Amino acid sequence: EAAEKGGYPHFMLKEINEEPAAITATVSPRVENGLPELRIPELTDEKLRSIGTVHLVGCGTAMHAGMVGKTAIEALARVPAEVDIASEFRYRDPILKPEDLVIIISQSGETSDTLAALKLAKSRGVPVLAIVNVVGSSIARAADYVMYTYAGPEIAVASTKAYMVQLCVLYLFALRLAYARGQLTEEKTKYYTAQLLHASEVIKPRLADCEQIKYLASRYVNTQSCFFIGRGFDYALSLEGSLKLKEISYVHSDAYAAGELKHGTISLITDGVPVIALATQKNVYEKTISNAKETRSRGARVLLFTTKDAEVPEGVATEVIRLDEYDDILMPLQLIVPLQLFAYYMAVLRGCDVDKPRNLAKSVTVE
Ligand code: AGP
Repeated sequence: EAAEKGGYPHFMLKEINEEPAAITATVSPRVENGLPELRIPELTDEKLRSIGTVHLVGCGTAMHAGMVGKTAIEALARVPAEVDIASEFRYRDPILKPEDLVIIISQSGETSDTLAALKLAKSRGVPVLAIVNVVGSSIARAADYVMYTYAGPEIAVASTKAYMVQLCVLYLFALRLAYARGQLTEEKTKYYTAQLLHASEVIKPRLADCEQIKYLASRYVNTQSCFFIGRGFDYALSLEGSLKLKEISYVHSDAYAAGELKHGTISLITDGVPVIALATQKNVYEKTISNAKETRSRGARVLLFTTKDAEVPEGVATEVIRLDEYDDILMPLQLIVPLQLFAYYMAVLRGCDVDKPRNLAKSVTVE
């Protein structure tokens, strides 16, 4: 097993460090003349132009990738997109139209609820595109179209590199959809595609920041309960950062859309409660900062993740982690790395079984 870990103490840390290679393997074969290519003969530009609503369905981390996909599809292509938890989708008689497209997201390709959601969509005559990591898995075999993520085997129960490349495929899809529908010019599409390819380089300094994140984790190691807040893409990342932290470090954690705080959660903010505020999106930056400030004034320890040039007013954050400037739409690719590392070091410092957290299985093949 030590050999398989390639010198890393845990599979999870190894897999986080494999993210640059996974991005290149997943994105570069799907770029031609600077434009994204889905490599699915049936999903022509004409077909993409006729899509009604995109439904993104998965469980856990895969569903969180779907949330980023929804935001990107709506922002870039202006096509309505819905995200569903597979176990909800399959039992709530979803409204599906023949012109819709269902995107099923799964690392293992074997998750029982996700497979059932896929079968339901197919039984309603709606085409299904699967974004899957395991070649030949049940979901890959049952779908109409497949876009594989090339993360390589993911052993740690906590999904990291697979999430990263699920995001990449969803961005490729959103970009092609936007281009096909004339929502993005060729020039703009090429710009985003080049930026997406460049993600493998953008995240390298974040991986190199691991000592800083480890130190940060050491300051939060005795946390009982914490909150993640953010808006837009940062909300989707809050959910994923929070899930990662709770599943492996056993720290209770909740994620909220920052604007929702006032509607209930703020009553839980007392002296010393950690609030992890994600503020990487320029259009809502000031709004999130103001929410962080509200928690700070109630005694919260605010750990703020923002970009290099963002102006952080006095008295908002206890600690600030800076990301490099990068396009806002693609920022989740950079932001997720320190969040994964934070969860990882919290779990290590708390003496948890990082790769095999209690009660969890890598693939949930029963309901
Ligand atoms: C991720 O860290 C989890 N262990 C879990 O939420 C996982 O993403 C979920 O069970 C879905 O698995 P799948 O991608 O293999 O379908």
